[in-house]
Formats: sequence, C-alpha cells, structure tokens
Amino acid sequence: MEVIILEDSHAVATLSAQRISDLINKKPTAVLGLATGSTPIALYQKLISLYQQGTLSFRHVVTFNLDEYIGISPNNPQSYHAFMKRELFDSIDIQPHNSHLPTCERAGETSCQVGAAYEQAIAEAGGIDLQVLGIGSNGHIGFNEPSSSLVSRTRVKTLTQATVNDNNRLFEEGEFQPRLAMTMGIASILDSQQVILLATGAQKARAVCNAIEGPLSAMCPASALQLHKQVTFILDEAAASKLENHHYYRWVRRINESLEKN
Ligand code: PGA
Repeated sequence: MEVIILEDSHAVATLSAQRISDLINKKPTAVLGLATGSTPIALYQKLISLYQQGTLSFRHVVTFNLDEYIGISPNNPQSYHAFMKRELFDSIDIQPHNSHLPTCERAGETSCQVGAAYEQAIAEAGGIDLQVLGIGSNGHIGFNEPSSSLVSRTRVKTLTQATVNDNNRLFEEGEFQPRLAMTMGIASILDSQQVILLATGAQKARAVCNAIEGPLSAMCPASALQLHKQVTFILDEAAASKLENHHYYRWVRRINESLEKN
C-alpha cells in the first residue's frame, strides 16, 4: 500500500486531481469510480479548474458513483445524483449518458436486481480503472458499514447511527434524512484496477489507522483495501496523526520522489 502524508487538505486535492488527470490523459476513455461527501469536493474543484484551463477533458470518460440514498428522489438536492451534478458534472464536459449512479427504484425490479444490474453495467464498461474513496469516521467505504461482508456486491445497506449522526450536519432540522442506501460492495470496490482513498481532518485519524495498520476486519471495512494490489491513501497530517509507522511512510515517499527525479 502506498501511504502519502501531505501538509493539508489542499495538497490532498491537488495530488489526487493530478493522479486522475494523468490517467485520463493516458486513457481518455477511463472509467472512474467516484465518491460523494465533503472530502472529494476540493478534488472536484481542482478537476473543474483543469477542465477550464483546457488541460483535461472528460468527453470520453465514464463514471460510476459508489452509492445513493434510498427514500429521496434523484431530483432532491440531498441526493447524490444532485450532489454530483452540482459539484462536478454540470461544470465539465462529461456526456450525461456516461455518468452512472446507483438507481434505487426501478418499476417491477427488486433491489437485488437493481444492484446486480449496476454490477453488470460496470462490467460492461470494462471495469473501473480508478476508484476514488473517502472514509467514514467508523471506517466505512461507500456505505459499507462496519460488519459489511468483505465479499459484498452492490446492494441495500442500513446506515449506522454513527453515519446518520456524521451526516446530520448536512440536513436541516426536521428534514427527512435517509437511513438506507444502495451501495457498491466491498468486493465491487476491490475489483477496480486502482484505488485512491482521501482522508482529511483529525476525525478520520482513528479510522485511517485501523484501515492501514489494523487487522483485516469487517469491523473496519476500509481495512479490506489491504487486499488490493494498487491502493494509495492520500492523507493530510491530521488524518495521519494516529499512524504508528508515519516516519516510514514519509521516508518511502522521499525515496520514491528521488527515484522519479532520476
Ligand atoms: P466525508 O464522508 O467526506 O463527508 O467525511 C466520507 C465518507 O463517509 O465516506
């Protein structure tokens, strides 16, 4: 696993945007797995800037988002469909038919069928080249909450109280807050060619430490990334503050940077 510790959230967004832009410039038809939440917003702003500068185009890029709430419509501003339009898609040249989010309601289909169809769509697109992840303070990735099966696929999950509490800041008092979501599974995430997990802020430090240095455990779903062959954790100082081996990760980074220069 590659663990990169950077000064602040700005540097995290810059490096992750650079990784994505390098991939798209190498493979204009890249398939990206995208995440919602507060963490990737700065990354999306960087990608929009690169697009506006004319150095990056999403014209042939295909995207699949990790998850969507159940119980609100895609037009609801709280939905992840609306989030993605607002924070990224409306400001870049992605073709609308190339961006996918889990659909939660489809007439005449069970949620299992809807989940299986999402997996099928990812496979038909050739699989995900690069998956962007955030991490919950409880170690979730997507909405794979603690105790999620490590071999799970796209399905309905019930959110934990911790996640509901973490996200409560985004809802007005009295506003309906979903407690169910359709989410890609842990096995779906592990299928991607490359993963970058972004974490910023001290509230993520415990989960980041459990994911990287803890045991492989369903109680920290992000620890499943220990099984992935090309995963990069891009962290700010605060999110990395509980890592026991942080000196080693910084040392590896310095060595890698000097090798890249030569
Ligand atoms: P956040 O959420 O970026 O809003 O902290 C991350 C997550 O829950 O995956």
